[in-house]
Parts: sequence; C-alpha cells; structure tokens
Amino acid sequence: MNEHEPVVDLQLDRAHSSRIYDYFLGGKTNFLADRMAAGSVLGVFPAALVAARINREFMHRATRFLAESGLRQFLDIGTGIPTPPNLHDIAQGSAPDARIVYTDNDPIVLAHAAALLLSTPEGRTAYVQADVTDPGGILTAPQLLDTLDLSRPVALSLNALMHFVPDDGRDRARTIVETLKAALPSGSTLAMSHATADFAPEAMRKISKIYGDAGTRLQFRTRPEFLRFFDGWDLLEPGVTLSHQWRPDDPADATHVTDAEAACYAAVARKP
Ligand SMILES: C[S@@+](CC[C@H](N)C(=O)[O-])C[C@H]1O[C@@H](n2cnc3c(N)ncnc32)[C@H](O)[C@@H]1O
Repeated sequence: MNEHEPVVDLQLDRAHSSRIYDYFLGGKTNFLADRMAAGSVLGVFPAALVAARINREFMHRATRFLAESGLRQFLDIGTGIPTPPNLHDIAQGSAPDARIVYTDNDPIVLAHAAALLLSTPEGRTAYVQADVTDPGGILTAPQLLDTLDLSRPVALSLNALMHFVPDDGRDRARTIVETLKAALPSGSTLAMSHATADFAPEAMRKISKIYGDAGTRLQFRTRPEFLRFFDGWDLLEPGVTLSHQWRPDDPADATHVTDAEAACYAAVARKP
C-alpha cells in the first residue's frame, strides 16, 4: 500500500455479518470478534452451520436454473466473502458469456473481490462497493453500467441480505426492493432468501440480540412479509419454500433438514 491509497477500516475488533457467515461456511476470512459472535449464535442455534450451507446451496441452484433458462446478466447484492463456487462460477459454468455484477457494503468483501473478478474470457464480472439502502447508487454505478445492459433481462439476487435492513416502521426494505425491481425490464428475475423467526422464535430472538450487540440490526420476516417482496412478479415453481426445499437436486435433500434448522425462506420470481 502506498501513502496515497485510502485507508480502509476493516473494524476487525467487532463482529461483521459477512465474516460470521464466512465462519459458518467453514471459510478463513473471519477474526476473533466474528468467531466469538458465531460461537454465541451456535450456542443458541446449533443449526446455524446447516442454515448457512443450505442458503448458499439455494444460491447455487437458483443461479444454475436461471442461467439454464437463458438469463445472461446477473446482479448479486450482498454477495458475501468469496466462497467457491461463487455466483459467477455457477452462471458461467452454464453460460460462459454471462455477465455478473457483485455488490457488498463490507470493505472486507472488497478486499477479497479479486476472486470474484476471475471471469471467463467470453463473460465479464465487476464489483461495486455499495450499500443496498442506496439502490439508485448501485443502479448508476459506472462498473454496473459498463457490465450490464439494463434494457435486457437481469437476474437480481438478494440472498440472505434483506434481513439486515430493518424497516423502522417505514417499509424500508420493500421500498428498496421495489426500486431495484422497477429498474429492470420484463423477463428479469428476483432470487431471494431471507431469515425468518417463524419456526424457532426464541432462538431467533437471542440471535437478534447477539448481532445487535455487535452493531448489526436484524429483522426477521414472516412468510407473508417475505412474499410481499415479489409483488407484481410471477413466482416460479415451487413458489415460496424453505431454502433447502427450492428445487432440490435430490428430493431426499429436502427431507434431511427441518424448517426450524433452515430458518430461511427462498423463492424466485420473473417480471411479467
Ligand atoms: C449472510 S451474507 C450472504 C452472502 C451471499 N449472498 C449468500 O447468500 O451466500 C450477507 C452479506 O450481505 C452484506 N450486507 C449486509 N448489509 C448490507 C447492506 N446494507 N448493503 C450491502 N450489503 C450488505 C454483508 O456484508 C454480507 O456479505
């Protein structure tokens, strides 16, 4: 680093959602504060390891399905620390010419973004450091506009992200998602997973407190609240499920995990 480069504060002394999730996925980009928070979560909800893995697997299946359905442009917000296979590995595995824009607000994801930029020669990947609470900033970012053609269908992914956007009585999360949806043309899709307290309310209340103590506010949403994110778009089969139940590769996979362990709703919808 030279003296002209901006100094980025990675805030290693406090737990971050991206690094806690990385720990649950068995990654190495996590630090003492993250591991302590992750340990507290596991103390009240040992299934967090399962929930993280099957959430990630939902992203894999949904992305493959969308690439195989003809989508060639992907916008993944709240990307997370690179964990192979990443979204572009899956999309370009089916469609080498796929173009992917990744976005996250955590500087540690930016620090590791090189792994997200290893595109196929036929396709392209880009990274935008941005916050989903500024959807206009994401949609007008030069890296996005250089990579995606917003007049053609885009597969938008908001996986395990919007529960980090509390409404504060203003329907804020839905307004953000509606802004993103409105910017995309017919044939675009929304793939989304979202944590819920519908099945293990007491454990989720304790998890909320652990994240809150670390400075990250969480808002779990019910099934009807999750469903509203897709208003006006056509849900693809099988509709809203728990993350492991959405088009499982092997139907048996959907029976090994309980709804309480999954703790995340998932769905994919298409803009008419
Ligand atoms: C649980 S991880 C999910 C990663 C990936 N989408 C997946 O499902 O495997 C959530 C990610 O969202 C990011 N995030 C949280 N709040 C955000 C915000 N307001 N804007 C952008 N990214 C955010 C975190 O930094 C973290 O990387």
